[in-house]
Amino acid sequence: MDRLTRVPGLLYGGDWNPEQWPEQVWAEDVKLMAEAGVNLVTVGVFSWARLQPDAYSWDFGWLDRLLDLVHRHGVAVDLATATASPPAWLVRAHPELLPVTADGIRLEFGSRQHYCPSSPAYREAAVRLTRALAERYRHHPALALWHIHNEYGDHVQECFCPASAADFRRWLRERHGTVDELNRSWGTAFWSQHYNSFEQIEPPRTAPGPVNPTQLLDWRRFCSDALLALHRAEKAVLDEVSPGVPVTTNFMSMLKALDYWEWSRHEDLVSDDAYPDPADPRAHVNAAMNYDLMRSLKGGRPWLLMEQAPSAVSWRPVNVPKPPDLHRLWSLQALARGADGVLHFQWRASVAGAEKFHSAMLPHRGTAARGWRQTVRLGAELRRLGEIAGSRLRGQAAVLLDWDSWWALELDDHPSGRMRWLDLLRPWYAALHARGITVDFLPPSAEPDGYPLLFAPNLYLLDTATAERLTRYVRGGGRLVCGPFSGIADRHDHIHPGGHPGPLREPLGIVVDEHWPIPDGTTTAVRLDGTKTESTEPDGTEPGGTELRAEHWSEWIETEGAETLARYTSGPLTGLPAVTRHRYGAGSAWYLSCHLGADVGPVLDLPLAEAGLNAELPGLPPGVEATRRHAADGTGYLFLLNHGPEERQVPLRTPGTDPLTGTDLLTGTPTGDTLTLAPLGAAVIRLPAAQERA
Ligand code: GAL
Ligand code: ZN
Repeated sequence: MDRLTRVPGLLYGGDWNPEQWPEQVWAEDVKLMAEAGVNLVTVGVFSWARLQPDAYSWDFGWLDRLLDLVHRHGVAVDLATATASPPAWLVRAHPELLPVTADGIRLEFGSRQHYCPSSPAYREAAVRLTRALAERYRHHPALALWHIHNEYGDHVQECFCPASAADFRRWLRERHGTVDELNRSWGTAFWSQHYNSFEQIEPPRTAPGPVNPTQLLDWRRFCSDALLALHRAEKAVLDEVSPGVPVTTNFMSMLKALDYWEWSRHEDLVSDDAYPDPADPRAHVNAAMNYDLMRSLKGGRPWLLMEQAPSAVSWRPVNVPKPPDLHRLWSLQALARGADGVLHFQWRASVAGAEKFHSAMLPHRGTAARGWRQTVRLGAELRRLGEIAGSRLRGQAAVLLDWDSWWALELDDHPSGRMRWLDLLRPWYAALHARGITVDFLPPSAEPDGYPLLFAPNLYLLDTATAERLTRYVRGGGRLVCGPFSGIADRHDHIHPGGHPGPLREPLGIVVDEHWPIPDGTTTAVRLDGTKTESTEPDGTEPGGTELRAEHWSEWIETEGAETLARYTSGPLTGLPAVTRHRYGAGSAWYLSCHLGADVGPVLDLPLAEAGLNAELPGLPPGVEATRRHAADGTGYLFLLNHGPEERQVPLRTPGTDPLTGTDLLTGTPTGDTLTLAPLGAAVIRLPAAQERA
């Protein structure tokens, strides 16, 4: 059992920046933490200058007193390594550690994250600080979790200085071995880009025209690895000096810059920072998607919502607060998707600095504020939900996510600049979310066999090993649903010869003759046949026969064994197949040759029906989200979340089955046939193991 599991129940708290306050204030802080039910605080994230006032001295006295105080009040600590903002003395002694942009501008001190990921001076200093903290506090009874750095890649994701250039060359040598290999991989026969030696290579700085795409792709890979190397250097120190205490770093949801599949291998616990915009009525759908990723990164293990705003943030052009009940609802949503706790940025609102208008658990107005009442109420509710800690949920289907492919897809000089990973993924996810289908994410290296249905909204870059795995999956009875512009390039970003979708051509049973981007502002009509499927509605209407609109992208495709389910009915491709299904081996492979955006749902209904997948809870009213976690003993926890502005009646009975009788843990009341959810209301229903269907 690690230290964190000694904190009973769900975790509740936030970033606490006590160095911004006189020590007298701390006494009030801990008293109020107890009142709010806070059991975990993140300390020291930006304390470097306080901990190490200059190159020759340390000052741990204040942190000793703080940790003792917190421990006396029964609050555990997520102790940060404090390395996200190097102090002025270090920067002035080593000005070369400041990061440089692609245009050659050196970024100044005065904000945070002002360091070059490949700087030896920064790295040595960060490792030294981490070691000093680990040695001093490894046995402190308040210590429950180590928090490495803060949001890698938040402000600085790449650096073009000479140290970074040298590190890039080292990385390239490791990846390619010889410069001949690199020349082949980068396709440097093009435009006379041949290199005679690694020494001739520089990072992809601003150049006169388009830069070599494989150079850019290797650069993305290198930049994720360069930050990961820093993280691993700190992690190695903590593992060595402070074994048994779990380690995390706070991720930033679905962040393009960092390959979180790779990163999460080095985390003991995945934690995430989430800032959905209260002004966006669909924000909860994206949040659900991000939370599903966080759960999936460690194969379904509980994760931690490390940061969220109690109300408004301070970094959008317009910072809209969360109306009453929204913060509670969104906190419960993280739990509904597998989190074992919700923490915040931050505990006490700052009075100075760039975040003084950011909301906090304890607002400027103090305990008289609405926000404080909300903090206390959420703490009390989380205590009532304590028993769900450790329970898990598993997706009914899976979605493939490959950072390599994401990076390659979004390189320039493609048939259309409108093909962006998140724009392609989000409508698919939203359609599944609206249908009450829970999904897990999978890396390309995973065996998808446990899932009846695998969605791949885009697989622009597809290496042969992954293609073979997918082919085996379909042949063995799986269903693969593949989006447009897939199977195009290999891992060097070279086109798979012989027609797209390259190595998926055989299982998909189609070939792409030509990409046919759709001009901005126009759409192309697609007609989905009235194919009879098992999902025919009770009133006899068929899900097919539907008129859909494609945007941004279409393809001239020809079938090679696949059947056509939808055709283009306007524009230059009129009459040609738009959506196909290929019965292949014991499974089926579906191909969508166009970007259907918000219209993708009726197409996804077909494989869902074929796989026999239905909503977790049928008959859910619109805007109500339902998920179910399971404890090891079989107890179920059904989360019902009303994201809409209207009261909703939720039927707790599936046609022909017994009502789901349980207890709403939030109110302590037994549930009946239906449950009424207020606008932004929620319920968490404990279903005894006996009630749970296998
Ligand atoms: C996060 C960051 C915190 C704080 C917060 C404000 O990105 O980790 O330190 O800046 O945003 O929303
Ligand atoms: Zn650099």
